[in-house]
Amino acid sequence: MFITIEGIDGSGKSTQAKRLAQWLEDFTGHETICTFEPGGWDGGKSLRDFILGSSGYCAQSELLLFLADRSEHVSRVILPALKAGHNVICERWNDSTLAYQSGGHELNVSDAERIIAACNFPEPNIKILLDIEPETAFSRIASRTPDKFEAEGLKLMKKVSEFYRSRAGEYAVIDCNNLNEEEVFAALTSKLEVYICQSR
Ligand code: TYD
Repeated sequence: MFITIEGIDGSGKSTQAKRLAQWLEDFTGHETICTFEPGGWDGGKSLRDFILGSSGYCAQSELLLFLADRSEHVSRVILPALKAGHNVICERWNDSTLAYQSGGHELNVSDAERIIAACNFPEPNIKILLDIEPETAFSRIASRTPDKFEAEGLKLMKKVSEFYRSRAGEYAVIDCNNLNEEEVFAALTSKLEVYICQSR
């Protein structure tokens, strides 16, 4: 299975992805790898640092940089793992590119979708959206050194959140508002359990 986790910065993706990987491995009996974008491949850190540190690029350049990162990630990590029969959990995917570069930075959505489609990346079996109020997420990340996107503040987060929510039908949405880490995890695994049993 290929599962992606989406959400605005501070929505708790990393914490849940790691827990979910262990759960999925136990539940399915298949080795499960947990990876992330940008930069989740051997040598990807320098591209990640470049993308998240550089400023002044137009939204289309941002999109192309994220797609270059994804291309390496797909060919070096994701496809080999799926071909070996492993499960893959990936923090962020094409949906982040649409939400941030189109929703946030106003790149034309259908242009972005066409460019992404031309890359022929694998389709996730299930896409999870950790939905949380931007104000709550923003307060969680306030104490850390912001990357290029976080530095744009609440205004960008609200636009990105709105974009994700406008496509909520594409996701298994977990409403994380007023839930603690344990409760989010319980909601997540009960949704996945239903999905996996139905698809067997
Ligand atoms: P991420 O690693 O999830 O941030 P964190 O440090 O909180 O774990 O993602 C880094 C940033 O990159 C995040 O602000 C979202 C942005 N991003 C895009 O704008 N487009 C993309 O396609 C991806 C994958 C990430």
